[in-house]
Amino acid sequence: MHRQIITTADGSRTIQLEDWNEVYHSKHGAIEEARHVFINAGLHHVLETHERCELSILEIGFGTGLNAFLTLLESQRNHFTINYQGVEAYPVTLDEICQLNYVDLISPQDQHIFDKLHSCNWNKKVRITSFFELTKRQQFFADITDVNQFDMIYFDAFGARVQPELWTKHIFKKMFDALKVNGVLVTYAAIGQVKREMIELGFLVERLQGPPGKRHMLRATKK
Ligand SMILES: C[S@@+](CC[C@H](N)C(=O)[O-])C[C@H]1O[C@@H](n2cnc3c(N)ncnc32)[C@H](O)[C@@H]1O
Repeated sequence: MHRQIITTADGSRTIQLEDWNEVYHSKHGAIEEARHVFINAGLHHVLETHERCELSILEIGFGTGLNAFLTLLESQRNHFTINYQGVEAYPVTLDEICQLNYVDLISPQDQHIFDKLHSCNWNKKVRITSFFELTKRQQFFADITDVNQFDMIYFDAFGARVQPELWTKHIFKKMFDALKVNGVLVTYAAIGQVKREMIELGFLVERLQGPPGKRHMLRATKK
């Protein structure tokens, strides 16, 4: 599939899959979307409500590592420990990583940390900083079988238009099982059918204001 690097509205770059007309992040701003959905509506919410200083996070679609990088910087800033597991079947190439400009725009002094997120081995737990441990899992989402492991899930799969099989009750049951009780899943999409199925599975679902270009997003808590 043909891939190219494009620049989104906030100046940050992302990867576009031309054949699918699909992007790794919103064209309205890759960094802005990641901060809005995963950091502000997700991580900050969990930190405020859980009063914890240690969190385990599962990311569905490690991709460019942007969400992992932002999360790591938050852990350094606020002094809490994160065990982060990113699931990804098709790792982004080093050549593509080098063309992204996240470090320049977010935290230029931390290039070595971003590089370590990408250079570390797959399928092995690696300490990236004193606050952040990473396991990059090369795996298909359909093969996830974790139970009661995570405080949070960043659900960042490609959209349902191109991968409808990832937005099904079957996959969200896996997400429900992987979360601990009171664990929280956030995603950039707010599809009515997905919301209904999440409720059937036992999630408490909130429809929140979406990032630029999207009216709504979802936050689901395992009750
Ligand atoms: C929207 S992108 C993730 C963006 C990523 N969170 C980031 O910050 O760059 C979706 C990711 O899911 C991966 N993917 C697609 N289908 C998959 C599958 N069935 N199992 C595992 N990974 C998959 C893609 O390779 C892509 O990296």
